[in-house]
Amino acid sequence: MATYTTTDTSQKTGTPMATDAQSTSDVSSDGAPSKAMFEPSANSRRSGTLREKPNPLIECDDLSIFYGDFRAVSGISMVFGKNEITALIGPSGCGKSTVLRTLNRMNDLIPGTRVEGRVSYHGQDMYGKEVDPIEVRRRIGMVFQKPNPFPKSIFDNIAFGPRVLGMKGDMDGIVESALTRAALWDEVKDRLRTNAFGMSGGQQQRLCIARCLAVEPDVILMDEPCSALDPISTGKIEDLMMELRKDYSIVIVTHNMQQAARVSDRTAFFTVTEDRVGQMVEIDDTEKMFTNPSDSRTEAYVTGKVG
Ligand SMILES: Nc1ncnc2c1ncn2[C@@H]1O[C@H](COP(=O)(O)OP(=O)(O)OP(=O)(O)O)[C@@H](O)[C@H]1O
Ligand SMILES: [Mg+2]
Repeated sequence: MATYTTTDTSQKTGTPMATDAQSTSDVSSDGAPSKAMFEPSANSRRSGTLREKPNPLIECDDLSIFYGDFRAVSGISMVFGKNEITALIGPSGCGKSTVLRTLNRMNDLIPGTRVEGRVSYHGQDMYGKEVDPIEVRRRIGMVFQKPNPFPKSIFDNIAFGPRVLGMKGDMDGIVESALTRAALWDEVKDRLRTNAFGMSGGQQQRLCIARCLAVEPDVILMDEPCSALDPISTGKIEDLMMELRKDYSIVIVTHNMQQAARVSDRTAFFTVTEDRVGQMVEIDDTEKMFTNPSDSRTEAYVTGKVG
């Protein structure tokens, strides 16, 4: 398994965990973590080569995820780098969505879910007692397989999150900026007050990405975001992902091997054991994973021999 190596432990850990002294200033009066708690340190912003950096943004260390007594995945250790697109691939049921949901605590919303091991974000334990899952989900947004706009106008879909969060500033500007970043502005600028359900599926998916961007995340998780879309809309989303990578980090689950090969910097291959436990086989540069993977199971999967 390819692992990142770092030359400097401060780089690997990013922002240190809040100590008791820090937590006084880093936690607001209502117990929610302040922004500072999740800010990357100067060290964690430093870049390097893929093999040397990693500029870690999210790290999973020996992660197991349970639904009740059922261990859905086990022993997942991997790093998600900044300004990278990481693809999670593998057969149905191997735990891709389960792992993805763990990266922004979306799994907290599924009763009976339990996580063992550690997930850290900018070096801080994402499941720590002092961490507010809502703040986690603002910083690490999620786009689902089926576009899920709210039954509201295009404008209100985008403005919803910023309003709830009490974000300051000109709402027209916030909406325009998010729609522009999602490559949708030109298509919808004359119909912002119309219902989002009147958009095509591909436009609705870009609206959902824009809705995610409006609250200024730094990671976007995408669970098969193109599986309900035609090839042209899929191409637009892929172009958009490449564009967004300049400013965001993206983790995408996909069953489309070409898509993983086209858009991602690194690919993780998961498999499932006979007793249905999902495991990660390897993670490496996407080019290597698709041309010369280390594990024969990866090769069999990416060449379509099994899966
Ligand atoms: N809410 C849930 N409750 C109980 N078990 C679940 C739940 N969600 C997923 N599982 C189980 O966890 C395992 C991993 O499921 P998961 O949905 O993460 O797989 P996946 O790799 O995303 O599959 P697919 O490619 O079909 O989407 C499966 O055995 C599945 O049945
Ligand atoms: Mg899934």
